[in-house]
Amino acid sequence: MKGLIALSAALLLAACDRPAEVAFADASITLPDDPIDLPDGPGRDAVIANCTACHSPSTMLQQPRVSREKWESIVDKMITLYKAPVDEAAVPEIVDYMVRVQSDVSYETAP
Ligand code: HEC
Repeated sequence: MKGLIALSAALLLAACDRPAEVAFADASITLPDDPIDLPDGPGRDAVIANCTACHSPSTMLQQPRVSREKWESIVDKMITLYKAPVDEAAVPEIVDYMVRVQSDVSYETAP
């Protein structure tokens, strides 16, 4: 019985000695094109600089049409809840842009 335990222990140790069989390989993925770009206009640069690090333009544009106050609260939510590093001075410009773009541009909402 003792011999069996010793043998099992030896086998276990031997198993530990073997290097793990893990193969690493390069992989690449192709992200789908985002068909919705930010339309030209004043404030576009501010939106690109402050808003597109975390999500695509379509996340911002494919929203129900909302009021200026709602856009102010959305930008505020990005800053306070999601810790978006938004330049305070750019907030009015960003809000103006989002309001204008929403009323000017017709865009397809998600199917
Ligand atoms: C630090 C990352 C970050 C930055 C920067 C950021 N957002 Fe967001 N945003 C998020 C997250 C996280 C969500 C929630 C996504 C989800 O629910 O799938 C979101 C969602 C949204 C939504 C969807 C509606 C909602 O209320 O959830 C809008 C619109 C939006 N962001 C606009 C903006 C605008 C405008 C800016 C620039 C002022 C901005 N975001 C910057 C992280 C960010």
